[in-house]
Amino acid sequence: MSRNILVTSALPYANGSIHIGHLVEYIQTDIWVRFQKMRGHSCNYVCADDTHGTAIMLRAEKEGITPQQLIDKTHGEHLRDFVGFNIAFDNYYSTNSDENRTLSQGIYRKLREKNLIEIRTIEQLYDPEKELFLADRFIKGECPKCHAQDQYGDACEVCGSTYAPTELIKPYSAVSGATPVKKTTEQYFFKLGECADFLKQWTRAGHLQNEAANKMAEWLDSGLQSWDISRNAPYFGFEIPDAPGKYFYVWLDAPIGYMASFQNLCAKNKLDFDAYWKEGASTELYHFIGKDILSFHALFWPAVLSYSGYRTPTKIFAHGFLTVGGQKMSKSRGTFITAESYLQQGLNPEWLRYYFAAKLNSTMEDIDLNLDDFVARVNSDLVGKYVNIASRAAGFISKRFDGKLADHIEPSSLITQVADAAPQIAELFEAREYAKALREIMTLTNLVNQYVDEKKPWELAKKPEAAAELHQVCSVSLNLFRLLSIYLKPVLPQVVGQVEAFLAIPPLTWDDARTLLLGHTIQPYQHLMTRVEGKQIDALLAANKETLEAAKSSGHSPVRHAEAQVHHAATVDRSKMADDSSFISIDDFSKVDLRIAKIVNAEHVEGAEKLLRLTLDIGEEKTRTVFAGIKSAYDPSTLVGRLTVMVANLAPRKMKFGLSEGMVLAASGESAGLYILSPDSGAQPGMRVK
Ligand code: 2FM
Ligand code: ZN
Repeated sequence: MSRNILVTSALPYANGSIHIGHLVEYIQTDIWVRFQKMRGHSCNYVCADDTHGTAIMLRAEKEGITPQQLIDKTHGEHLRDFVGFNIAFDNYYSTNSDENRTLSQGIYRKLREKNLIEIRTIEQLYDPEKELFLADRFIKGECPKCHAQDQYGDACEVCGSTYAPTELIKPYSAVSGATPVKKTTEQYFFKLGECADFLKQWTRAGHLQNEAANKMAEWLDSGLQSWDISRNAPYFGFEIPDAPGKYFYVWLDAPIGYMASFQNLCAKNKLDFDAYWKEGASTELYHFIGKDILSFHALFWPAVLSYSGYRTPTKIFAHGFLTVGGQKMSKSRGTFITAESYLQQGLNPEWLRYYFAAKLNSTMEDIDLNLDDFVARVNSDLVGKYVNIASRAAGFISKRFDGKLADHIEPSSLITQVADAAPQIAELFEAREYAKALREIMTLTNLVNQYVDEKKPWELAKKPEAAAELHQVCSVSLNLFRLLSIYLKPVLPQVVGQVEAFLAIPPLTWDDARTLLLGHTIQPYQHLMTRVEGKQIDALLAANKETLEAAKSSGHSPVRHAEAQVHHAATVDRSKMADDSSFISIDDFSKVDLRIAKIVNAEHVEGAEKLLRLTLDIGEEKTRTVFAGIKSAYDPSTLVGRLTVMVANLAPRKMKFGLSEGMVLAASGESAGLYILSPDSGAQPGMRVK
């Protein structure tokens, strides 16, 4: 039965370029959408630029253009990059559209009618120089807990504690450097707490991956706060009805942008908007997102939709982050690779599509791009195995048989095996188990190559009496190649497009796996894909390498889930700040249990900008795990085996990344680096420091 499906990927912010981290998601989604279309379903894939908010306003100001000019420019660049990677949106729109304004304001009015909006007067930090209320990420200062400098307004990356921006010590505006002042302001809140029962049920009703449902349960159990959906002027966004000077917070209208983009498509393609969005709609709705924005999609979004009379998503598909060579993408290493630079260096987009697909599954696990593996795998699987089949068989068909495939081919177990794999491969694509699907397809590809190796068409070609057999072997090989092309088409649309031209056939659909191509004239073979050269990768890294100076001025900020963290802050114990007197007694000092510790392991912490996870031996049976904010200064591998000093009786602290069981001592100056302490030689792990 044919399905009616609407699919989205997260809307990229309009103030930055598309990079390979983004591409994981668009490629994952695009493969799924192309697969659905090949199956004969109606599937619409919509997306848009996420255009609102303070960051975009400030960025435009810095560039000396209007926000509208900035978002127009970015829209063009984003679309160019997506097209370059063969991401085939049915509509790529903008959240700054009339459709989105009308939908957002309508949804807001519905929520207000349901008495789910409340106005509260709160205190917020204000930049008196810029005359701007400061979002948490635009305030920096000293952590109230561990006193680390230059921490963001919502959470400390050194000790992991979360707090309100008003708690920062010596706060400053990241926009102007001015000292912010506290100012009261009225804000509009969505009473999310009143949706708790609905959300408890919804998050367990099969719309989320299990791990995502568990994560959301943690949030739900810690209690839902009302969500501040308003921002003060000046703000680039939509005005809130009947609230002069107040604008919708970007995260309110961003997901509504999915609807708006689809509505815009409906007008162009005469589709029925209500059939996809009205409460009780029987069509399917899927959102592909990164795991960092799960709470927006699995809590806020279904609540907003459900309480304003719309349907909720069928499923939310969250994926993990991309690492390169096991590490976070880094501008200084050149691994923060933009889509544009990849294409400009002349690398084939389908190489990356294939590589990501070969790594992707249905979980939220991170995926790693290992560049050596990338070269090896693309060259071996795609060029060495898949494309090779066609190049070995096609020439003979053209030269010896006038380009015509045999009228009849003998049934064989190999053809049956390859054709019969279609349903199983389809199941894997449907379930987003692309890595498994490609493994299946490559197993079949190996068998086809074995067949060609055994039949040796190049030898048959030398024997005039073997012409019929040569015709058979090459026709069978090309038919097998055609079947493999069907399976690879969602991943490699461009290459398979060339295959369709070469085979002179209409676009392949999934059902074509049930048929063979017989007595059909094909076109001369033209090379389908080149090998990746190591030097292309070197050039790519060089092109993306940013010097420290350039990186500073680009001001890229990775913190985009600030709101999510702040939301959580109220549930975290805020222990009182230390008393400010400058002397402590010897008794107090002796309470601190300092020990010599041996670093037995040190590693990066996924998602943490400043932390390393250290495993410390202090002569006890069990080692200790400590999260230390020293990533900027140390390559973890150089720490392993070293001795240092730790505070062994610090109460264990639950951090975002796990439990920290102590603290390592390090010296630091304003900007003079970080230095962990080490004892003189002879000290042994576990010794007390007095
Ligand atoms: O995190 C981000 O990059 C957001 N721009 C995603 C928005 S997705 C949707 F909700 F609009
Ligand atoms: Zn701290």
